[in-house]
Amino acid sequence: MKLEAINHLFREHIQKLSPYQSAREEFVADGRKMILLDANENPYETKVNRYPDPLQKELKSAIAEWRNVLPEQIFLGNGSDEIISQLIIACCEPGKDHIIINPPTFGMYAVAASIFGVALEEVPLQLDTFRLDVDAILNRSNEHSKIIFIPTPNNPTANRFDKADLKAILDGFKGFVIIDEAYAEFSTDASLISWLKEYPHLIVLQTFSKAQGLAGVRLGMAFAQSTVIQILNRIKAPYNINTLTLQKVLERLKEQETVKRQVEQLLVEKKRLIEAIQPIRFVETIFPSDANFFLIRVDDSQKRYNQFIEMGIVVRNPSKQLGCANSLRISVGTPLENDTLIKAFNQLEKSEK
Ligand SMILES: Cc1ncc(COP(=O)(O)O)c(C=O)c1O
Repeated sequence: MKLEAINHLFREHIQKLSPYQSAREEFVADGRKMILLDANENPYETKVNRYPDPLQKELKSAIAEWRNVLPEQIFLGNGSDEIISQLIIACCEPGKDHIIINPPTFGMYAVAASIFGVALEEVPLQLDTFRLDVDAILNRSNEHSKIIFIPTPNNPTANRFDKADLKAILDGFKGFVIIDEAYAEFSTDASLISWLKEYPHLIVLQTFSKAQGLAGVRLGMAFAQSTVIQILNRIKAPYNINTLTLQKVLERLKEQETVKRQVEQLLVEKKRLIEAIQPIRFVETIFPSDANFFLIRVDDSQKRYNQFIEMGIVVRNPSKQLGCANSLRISVGTPLENDTLIKAFNQLEKSEK
């Protein structure tokens, strides 16, 4: 697909929109210490009495170096959740366009589409292997399919999708292909950021909420062609990323050795958990995982969920999702937390002999 071909994927009025010009965008700092009387702030120092940089230039330049892209190829959101919503707003005309999702999948795509009155086309993953059904996706898509959301590794199934399948979708799908790499750090597959040059309609999402250990600061990233980023900048709230978040993320970028060690530890712990749960009789299937969580099929998920709650352990019961009957999704915890979970499984097993 040619770069020019992506402009028509945005809604017409969004393409023409003149964005709000915030005070801190009109004045471009040149390094001099200025008296700031332009934004009606309280001048007395609280460390956060000034508005943050609306375009987050310092953080974007650090992320650009980290992820080997240009700063103009980065959009930052208040979590990936905000970016997902903004993409739907930018591209989908309610009552006319739709997004494609592949259930079982991350729930926010459908919720965001519903909030904005945008229709959903659901093309389920293949049963039990949880692979993408590429032919069905391409057959179901038409000129109103503006976005397909593909999380890889997938939530809640935890598997990553085949690169060949993702390539086939990128080759055949005419809308934006959003590859949501929220769990990328846990997977052995390399990020699709390196495919951005080849595919102008590819957008890669990543987040500081999972491996990076900053779910509380809410920072999601979109990597895309600068044309796409310009449109997202046009529709965002002026100061969508707050000063404390900017500071915390900049600090975290300097702690990547720690993140790497934690990821390695979590992967070792995942293997230990899976091996310990394998012999439990009420666990019928443990699905392959490329993330920091895994999905299991049990005899009765509601009963097991309640029993774990009784024992002080909260897991996720995604059983209402297509293809996930009687399943539980378990995040990997600290070694101590995992010991307690293993004990809980064994205790339940013993009590039922
Ligand atoms: C696939 C996927 N994408 C995005 C998110 C949300 O990320 P954020 O915390 O950045 O909004 C999640 C959270 O569970 C997720 O599973």
